[in-house]
Amino acid sequence: MSSTPISSSSKELLNNNSSPSKPRTRSNRRRIIALIVAAVVIIVLAVVLPVYFTVIRPKHDHDSSSSSSSSGSSSSSGSSTIATTGGDGSVVTTDNGTQFTYNNSFGGFWVNDPANPFNDNAQPNSWTPPLNTSWTFGVDRIYGVNLGGLFVTEPFITPSFFEKYSPVAVDEWTLSVAMANDTASGGLGQLETHYATFITEEDIAQIAGAGLNWIRIPIAFWAIETWANEPFSEPFLAKTSWTYFLRVLEWARKYGLRVILDLHAVPGSQNGLNHSGRLSPVNFLSGNMGMANAERTLYYIRVLTEFVSQPAYRNLIPIFGIINEPLLGIIGKDQLTSFYLEAHNMIRGITGYGEGNGPYIAIHDGFQSLASWADFLQGSDRIILDTHPYFSFGGIDTSPIAIDDANGNPGGKWPLQACNAWGPTINASQTAFGVTIAGEFAASPNDCGYWLVGVGPESTNPQCPEYDDYPNYNDSMKAGISNYVLASMDANQDWFFWTWKIGPNSTGLTGAPLWSYQLGLQEGWIPKDPRTATGKCASLGLAPDPFNGTYAAWATGGVTSSIPASSSASFPWPPTTISNAVVPVTLMPTYTSTATIITMPAATFTAAPSSVTASVNGWFDAQDTVGGVLTVAGCTYPDEYNGIFTVTPTAPCTGPTS
Ligand SMILES: *[C@@H]1O[C@H](CO)[C@@H](O)[C@H](O)[C@H]1NC(C)=O
Ligand SMILES: *[C@@H]1O[C@H](CO)[C@@H](O)[C@H](O)[C@H]1NC(C)=O
Ligand SMILES: *[C@@H]1O[C@H](CO)[C@@H](O)[C@H](O)[C@H]1NC(C)=O
Ligand SMILES: *[C@@H]1O[C@H](CO)[C@@H](O)[C@H](O)[C@H]1NC(C)=O
Ligand SMILES: *[C@@H]1O[C@H](CO)[C@@H](O)[C@H](O)[C@H]1NC(C)=O
Ligand SMILES: *[C@@H]1O[C@H](CO)[C@@H](O)[C@H](O)[C@H]1NC(C)=O
Ligand SMILES: *[C@@H]1O[C@H](CO)[C@@H](O)[C@H](O)[C@H]1NC(C)=O
Ligand SMILES: *[C@@H]1O[C@H](CO)[C@@H](O)[C@H](O)[C@H]1NC(C)=O
Ligand SMILES: *[C@@H]1O[C@H](CO)[C@@H](O)[C@H](O)[C@H]1NC(C)=O
Repeated sequence: MSSTPISSSSKELLNNNSSPSKPRTRSNRRRIIALIVAAVVIIVLAVVLPVYFTVIRPKHDHDSSSSSSSSGSSSSSGSSTIATTGGDGSVVTTDNGTQFTYNNSFGGFWVNDPANPFNDNAQPNSWTPPLNTSWTFGVDRIYGVNLGGLFVTEPFITPSFFEKYSPVAVDEWTLSVAMANDTASGGLGQLETHYATFITEEDIAQIAGAGLNWIRIPIAFWAIETWANEPFSEPFLAKTSWTYFLRVLEWARKYGLRVILDLHAVPGSQNGLNHSGRLSPVNFLSGNMGMANAERTLYYIRVLTEFVSQPAYRNLIPIFGIINEPLLGIIGKDQLTSFYLEAHNMIRGITGYGEGNGPYIAIHDGFQSLASWADFLQGSDRIILDTHPYFSFGGIDTSPIAIDDANGNPGGKWPLQACNAWGPTINASQTAFGVTIAGEFAASPNDCGYWLVGVGPESTNPQCPEYDDYPNYNDSMKAGISNYVLASMDANQDWFFWTWKIGPNSTGLTGAPLWSYQLGLQEGWIPKDPRTATGKCASLGLAPDPFNGTYAAWATGGVTSSIPASSSASFPWPPTTISNAVVPVTLMPTYTSTATIITMPAATFTAAPSSVTASVNGWFDAQDTVGGVLTVAGCTYPDEYNGIFTVTPTAPCTGPTS
């Protein structure tokens, strides 16, 4: 099947390897599409964000942004004075005109430069390089949080939605169907209200003020589009979260936070879990629709790569997590490797190779040991291994956390267990694989928490009542959890807590308290300064691992080699077999690349000169003109999420005319 559309499109992309620095010409078709998209976006933004950036006068002094000031520098207009930068204690005026005080005792300062909205001078704290300066993996430490539940819902993060539509809503698919039917409550518009209110500018300011420096933002494929033609009829709210994603990006830029764009839900579901969009069998790269869903996913990865590689977003989004938690055990290691190799070649065909050319590509470990990824794809360019260390989902362990260990350390066995389980393996992976991060972890050693394991009864762990009852935690409980968190941070080294915020359940309380960084900061089991975690594992007796803090040059784009032909031959695209399919790969449904391509819009800034904003058109590589994926006319497709054929194909379907 080497003539499938995806193969030929990526070959074409690969031929453009050396193109990024060449001047670009756009086809008329693409220019017209871009103009239409831009017009739609301007209208949307004009409606949704009427005062965003417009209340700010277009004057900015670059020097003022480089100094941390406790009062804030201002530009004034006749009737109002609005600051353009400020440090601890400065007053921030939000896009809706309300004000709050920025608290940052770590030397961080925000920058809001109306004349250059892509100003990357801000710094979240004194020890984090400003966005305009390159990040040195292994030296600069990632202290991050996820914005879980914002653009991809989960029952335990926004229980109020799932309580309202219980018991039918168990994932975003069923939630969306139930909401759409409930027009009296605003239908699917309820999700847009959630995007607009769940995470505010104050949250982002608090993240910077908490000594953190990165955020990981999960988004779903339906931010780009949904398919409504039978048999697809995807009920998700389409093309809406992107506007709010852009808004969060600009807040992140303002406070100097770097971003991982995390593609968290892909067509067909990559893991069958509720947070993949739909509880279902895995139909991404598995099952009869496995190839088609993978082709569509590659297309969305391409669209997002074109967006994040633009100079205006490159400093802000240095990492693209191309697919969250694919279930390797179902999909297969070779198949997933083929997909990662294909995605790598497509992405680097757009961005070019080597340091500074487009984002790092984060891949998840597929729930396998880090050691099993050693030496992965030799010759690849800037791939990060993302692991999600949790003890929560491995069965019930009732070892107490509200006691001291034999040496008087709070937390019982849990802190040292975190150090032992994660520290040495992550350090070893930093040598053997390259850049390795913990894209998710939590403060809980178990799966207690209201609807954490899905809508319905809570975990059967008998300790759940005491873990859930955070308003009554005693000092031993808080000290134990705190020590477990510090040990986890130290072991993980470069980490993202899951998640920043948990919405209240029907009692008004946080149902899964140990999964909210914000709550932990308030209640005292999350450190006010994450640097205090440094050395925790050594203090508990763990012998430090040899990783010396300097990544091999091949891991960070310092040398550009190429993937040996033997790898490409061992991991062909498409893979030679696909699990759980009733037909050979050659007979599986695929797509054409004839759709009008989707370009994701950039934010618009009415106060900025067009000389600054005009080139930011959402598409980095103008020579990448291969179309988007589309069903082949005349072919029938089984259901995207179960792949069951009504008639099992006996010949490849290439459409009636070929
Ligand atoms: C980067 O930002 C810092 C402030 O954080 C500023 O001092 C410096 O001049 C900026 N560098 C460039 C190249 O713009
Ligand atoms: C749709 O809403 C009506 C009430 O407005 C309700 O009776 C019905 O069960 C709902 N259907 C679904 C599929 O949620
Ligand atoms: C205005 O923005 C602030 C901070 O982003 C938010 O807390 C507040 O709810 C918003 N107010 C309105 C009326 O939207
Ligand atoms: C900063 O601290 C003040 C005083 O404690 C508080 O009122 C304000 O809400 C804080 N700002 C943020 C963004 O949390
Ligand atoms: C739903 O997701 C949570 C994690 O967010 C996981 O613990 C749980 O097992 C999932 N439930 C189902 C039924 O997929
Ligand atoms: C603290 O709370 C935990 C959990 O409820 C309990 O097991 C422990 O005995 C309490 N410790 C003290 C000193 O009260
Ligand atoms: C809501 O959260 C609280 C605090 O964790 C918990 O005690 C309660 O059981 C949760 N759910 C309900 C329906 O009360
Ligand atoms: C991991 O390596 C770092 C140096 O990069 C070292 O400081 C730390 O102690 C090591 N951690 C463990 C758990 O071995
Ligand atoms: C650290 O290790 C890397 C490879 O893992 C090596 O290239 C580098 O020379 C080492 N640096 C020091 C200072 O030992």
